[in-house]
Amino acid sequence: MVYYQQLKCLRPMLLSILLLYIVLQKALAITPDGEALLSFKAAIVGSDGVLLHWNQEDPDPCGWKGVKCDAMKRVVFLSLPYHKLSGSISPDIGKLNHLRILALHNNNLYGILPPELGNCTELRAIYLQGNYLGGSIPAEYGDLSELESMDISSNSLSGSIPSSLGKLTKLSTFNVSTNFLVGPIPSDGVLIKFIENSFVGNLRLCGKQINVACNERGGPSTSQSPDSGRGQSMWG
Ligand SMILES: *[C@@H]1O[C@H](CO)[C@@H](O)[C@H](O)[C@H]1NC(C)=O
Ligand SMILES: *[C@@H]1O[C@H](CO)[C@@H](O)[C@H](O)[C@H]1NC(C)=O
Repeated sequence: MVYYQQLKCLRPMLLSILLLYIVLQKALAITPDGEALLSFKAAIVGSDGVLLHWNQEDPDPCGWKGVKCDAMKRVVFLSLPYHKLSGSISPDIGKLNHLRILALHNNNLYGILPPELGNCTELRAIYLQGNYLGGSIPAEYGDLSELESMDISSNSLSGSIPSSLGKLTKLSTFNVSTNFLVGPIPSDGVLIKFIENSFVGNLRLCGKQINVACNERGGPSTSQSPDSGRGQSMWG
């Protein structure tokens, strides 16, 4: 009974401790960009150890290896090429909406290209070449209006090249070579200015850019061996 009385008067104190704890927790928690990068880390199942010091107790991720921030401590740069990263690219990467450079080339990444990356509309460059990424190129990437460079060559991408990419008016470097892409290369928009060496080694692409005419079914008009981008040209 006495014990119960004591407990009762302790209650307000316990409550305020709890409240204090919640407030502190909030103040000490890592920034939302840090959260997004921790999700990125969680989807990586192997590496050379480069993510070891990405510590969730840090107030922000700005000192982490491969990460750079702007003055507002927003992540603008994620660069971890050649680090034996294996695993998939977390869709939470799309929450880094101040990201300018994404360079994860020459790793062992698999899974799909996250469509959510299309939300990172500040992106200038995407370097994802030399991985095992599959699925198709998300049409959402046509929203990346600041994009200047996109190299997704040497992966396992399939499907056709979305026509939305034609909207990327600032694009000056583009490489989708050595994938399994098929169908017509969009010719209305910026993709018309790229030539054969942006498209080499795909399954069945056609279009002016590679001098392969497309037939009515949207395929190359001559049957070709799997890796010939050049084929017997019937264009012109
Ligand atoms: C990001 O993109 C995905 C798919 O592209 C979409 O479903 C989602 O709502 C977007 N998130 C934000 C915050 O815009
Ligand atoms: C695209 O990548 C392939 C190899 O993956 C390379 O041979 C080619 O020169 C590159 N093209 C451009 C335009 O950089």
